Amino acid sequence: MSAPDLSADKVDNYRWQIGRLELVPIVIGGMGVDISTTELALTACRLGGVGHISDAMVQHVSDRKYDTHFTKAKSEKHRGTRDGIDKTTVKFDLEHLRQAQLNHVRHTMDRKQGPGAVFINVMEKLTMGAPGDTLRARLAGAMDGGIDGITLSAGLHIGSLKLVEDHPRFRDVKIGPIVSSVRALKIFLKGAARLKRMPDYVIVEGPLAGGHLGFGDDWRDYDLRSIVAEILAFLREEKLDIPVLPAGGIFTGTDAASYLRMGAAAVQVATRFTITEECGLPARVKQDYARAREEDLVVSGVSPTGYPIRLLSYSPCFESNIKPQCEAFGYLLSREGTCAYLDAYDATPVDAKGHKLPVQGKVCLCYHFSKFNCYTCGHYVYRLKDTTHRLADGRYQILTATHVFRDYQFSTGNQVALPAPLEAPAAATADR
Ligand SMILES: Cc1cc2nc3c(=O)[nH]c(=O)nc-3n(C[C@H](O)[C@H](O)[C@H](O)COP(=O)(O)O)c2cc1C
Repeated sequence: MSAPDLSADKVDNYRWQIGRLELVPIVIGGMGVDISTTELALTACRLGGVGHISDAMVQHVSDRKYDTHFTKAKSEKHRGTRDGIDKTTVKFDLEHLRQAQLNHVRHTMDRKQGPGAVFINVMEKLTMGAPGDTLRARLAGAMDGGIDGITLSAGLHIGSLKLVEDHPRFRDVKIGPIVSSVRALKIFLKGAARLKRMPDYVIVEGPLAGGHLGFGDDWRDYDLRSIVAEILAFLREEKLDIPVLPAGGIFTGTDAASYLRMGAAAVQVATRFTITEECGLPARVKQDYARAREEDLVVSGVSPTGYPIRLLSYSPCFESNIKPQCEAFGYLLSREGTCAYLDAYDATPVDAKGHKLPVQGKVCLCYHFSKFNCYTCGHYVYRLKDTTHRLADGRYQILTATHVFRDYQFSTGNQVALPAPLEAPAAATADR
């Protein structure tokens, strides 16, 4: 018998059954701050997959999009600490926070169409001066707004389920953690078992993903396929029927299909969507992503969260000297009012004219994410240029999310489908 031709396998040969939904097994991952927009998430949903919005800096996002004034109100309330380093009194108004989350989710879900689903990415590391209380407000706001699913990321989320166990939607909303090891999954499952509320899925993020990494400086020693295999084996042994979704470095439909063949229920992808019209990055930043070369990538310790983050080396956030913006933002403040950027800023000397020198080692993630200055990306960002056309003026053609989604769904043989060109090829233009 001849071996089956695996290169002809494609994502469309598979479906992910979750509750009553039968989904195309493609999930667009959450990208804060509003990089995975409502429009991006709704496209995935319309095409039968899952799209994520993100609740990172949700008050700021609500203000930008829905004409609310949560950031200004917070900033004015705490104006007294603006010039100092002591931020122990800077706290979020929990009702404002819940309202901002509700706004964002409701504005998204009101426009939902099609057979797929819309989830929200909720990061534990956004400690916001009062970790448990602010996380509870965000989870409750998302469920009140009618979200289909909540992905718990950037942290072990040991106590997160317990925060909302009394919410009427606690057992109906889909919930899944992001883990990077079988150990992290076991920790999450222990808490879930106590509440008799097992997750509806688990996303397994490997070391090539965008955003913060669940690995240390030794991230190169790990690979997604081995971690997924280990987690699938563990779930089989424990007789736990929890769908597994690999993420991080899945660049072609063929890569995706190989994980589905292994037993994954779906895949989570993100970087390829950063150069789509629906992505929230400004147009010039999309070009900065499209032109990336492999040597431009860094995995850096500049994030005050303590997790490494993958960035493009020419991100404008590096070595800035911006004053901490905790009164307006403060999304990374600990319960005690500390943040590693505050300390780094405080320790930075001034020049002869009294101006702060560039802060070394840490960046103000709140400020720079609010300005799209942190070019975080998956490892294969440097292959984006192979997924589109170069225009005559040197820019790259921006794709539609529908095109990228369909390419993941239908492509075979490690091919990436190019979009219909916006311009005639250079030679043909010269002929005219
Ligand atoms: C621009 C960008 C921003 C991201 N932001 C977040 C985030 O806020 N929270 C999170 O859990 N993951 C974040 N991620 C990770 C993605 O959700 C996803 O799991 C991962 O990037 C998938 O790998 P890929 O980009 O190689 O396809 C981000 C990824 C990118 C590319």
